[in-house]
Amino acid sequence: MKLWGGRFTKREDEIMEKFNTSLPVDHRLYYQDITGSIAHVKMLVECNLLSEAEGILLIDGLESILRDIESGLLKMEGAYEDIHSFVEMNLTKRIGETGKKLHTARSRNDQVAVDMRLYAKQKAGEVMMALQQLIDSLHDKAAKNNVIMPGYTHLQRAQVVTFSHHLGAYAQMFSRDKKRMSNAIDILDENPLGCGALAGTTHHIDRQITTELLGFSKPVDNFLDGVSDRDYLLELMSSFSITMMHLSRLSEELILWSSQEFKFIEMDDAYSTGSSIMPQKKNPDAAELIRGKTGRVYGSLLSLLTTLKGLPLTYNKDMQEDKEQFFDALDTVMDCLEIMSKMIDTLHVNEENMKAAIKAGFLNATEVADYLVSKGTAFRDAHEIVGKIIIYCEQQKKAIEDLTIEELAKFSDSITDDIYDYIDYENILNKGNKKLIKQITK
Ligand code: ARG
Repeated sequence: MKLWGGRFTKREDEIMEKFNTSLPVDHRLYYQDITGSIAHVKMLVECNLLSEAEGILLIDGLESILRDIESGLLKMEGAYEDIHSFVEMNLTKRIGETGKKLHTARSRNDQVAVDMRLYAKQKAGEVMMALQQLIDSLHDKAAKNNVIMPGYTHLQRAQVVTFSHHLGAYAQMFSRDKKRMSNAIDILDENPLGCGALAGTTHHIDRQITTELLGFSKPVDNFLDGVSDRDYLLELMSSFSITMMHLSRLSEELILWSSQEFKFIEMDDAYSTGSSIMPQKKNPDAAELIRGKTGRVYGSLLSLLTTLKGLPLTYNKDMQEDKEQFFDALDTVMDCLEIMSKMIDTLHVNEENMKAAIKAGFLNATEVADYLVSKGTAFRDAHEIVGKIIIYCEQQKKAIEDLTIEELAKFSDSITDDIYDYIDYENILNKGNKKLIKQITK
C-alpha cells in the first residue's frame, strides 16, 4: 500500500516496510491531516484546479473518514507508510477515482509540515492552560498559607520569608514559561502548505486561502525553509525542558519539606506511595517521578537537535524522527503539570514546624546588622559586630533575641532596647516583604 509504487519493480522488503512506517506514531495527526486536506481541496476548487463536484466528493469522503476514526469504526492500522498514506488510500477506497486527485499541487513534505504545525500550535495552547492551572493552584495555596518560614541560600537558613512568597516564586517561573510558549506559538504560526516537495508548484494555487482556512497568520516566505523547518518543535521542546526544570526544582523542595528532617509539609495520601517492607514509609513518589522525567524531556530536545544538525536542505527522512520525541516530551510535560497541580492543591502545611524552624539558625542576623546601620554604623563594621554576636550566641546556646540588653550592648554602644522590635521576625516580614506578599497572594 504505497503512494509511490510506479517507479518500482520490486516489493519493499518486509523489514524495510516496518522500519520505514511512521503510522504507529503519526496516527495522532489524523485530525490535522484531514483538516489540512479539506482546506487544500477547498483551495483547489476556488483556483479551478478541481470541479465543485469533485470538491464535494473529496470533502464528504474526508469527513466520513474523520467521523469513522473518531467513532472507532476505522482503525488506524495496517501496512500504510504513514498517516498521510492511510487517509489518502482510504479516501480512494471510499470515493473511487476522484480520491486520486487529492494530492494535486501538494507533497507529503508540505503536508507533514502543515500537520505538525497545526498540532504543535494546538498542543502548545493546551500546555499554556495546564501551566495556568498550576499557577492558580500555587496562588490558592499561597493565599491560604501566608505562614512565616525560613528562607535558604546554599540550603542554609538565611532570612525569614513566607510560604506564600516561596510558592509565589514558582508561580513567577510558570508565568514566564507561559510567555515562552506564547512566543513560540507566534513564531510557528505560518502556513507551509503550498511549498510542495521543496520548490512550490507550477499549478496556480492560492496559499492565502489555506492560510485563512487553517487559521495561520501568514504563508511561509520560503519554500525550501517551509518544508525543512523544525525550529518550532525545538523551541517548544526547549520551553518544555525549562518548565520541567522548574517542576523538578519544586519537586525537590517538596521532597525535602516532606522528609522527617524538615516536616514542613505532608503530601496527600493520593499522591504518595508506601514501602513493601517498611510499614511506616510514605514516599513522595509523584514528586520524584517528575524530577526523574525531567531528564527524559531534556533527552527528547537533545535528540531532535542532534537529528537536525547535519541535514542539508530540504526534507530528509531523518525528520520523521521528530514526532516520537515531540509527542513524548509533550505527554510528559502535560502529565507532570497536572500531577503537580493536584499535589499542590492537596498538600498539608505544617505551620507550627515552619514557625519553629525560624527559632534556630539566626535568621535575623542580617536585620541586627541593618539595625546597627540605622544607628550610624557602617555596614561592613556592623557585619563584623554581628559575626561576634553569633559566636557568643553559639557558645551560650541562645538566639540573638534571647540575649539581654546588657549582653548585646557589650558588642556596640549603639544597641538599645529598641533592637528587640527591630529584629522581631513578624516585624521583619511586615517591613521588608509586605507589599510583595500582598501582590502574590491577590
Ligand atoms: N512520514 C513522513 C514524516 O513524518 C512524512 C513525509 C514523507 N515525505 C517523504 N518525502 N517521504 O516525515
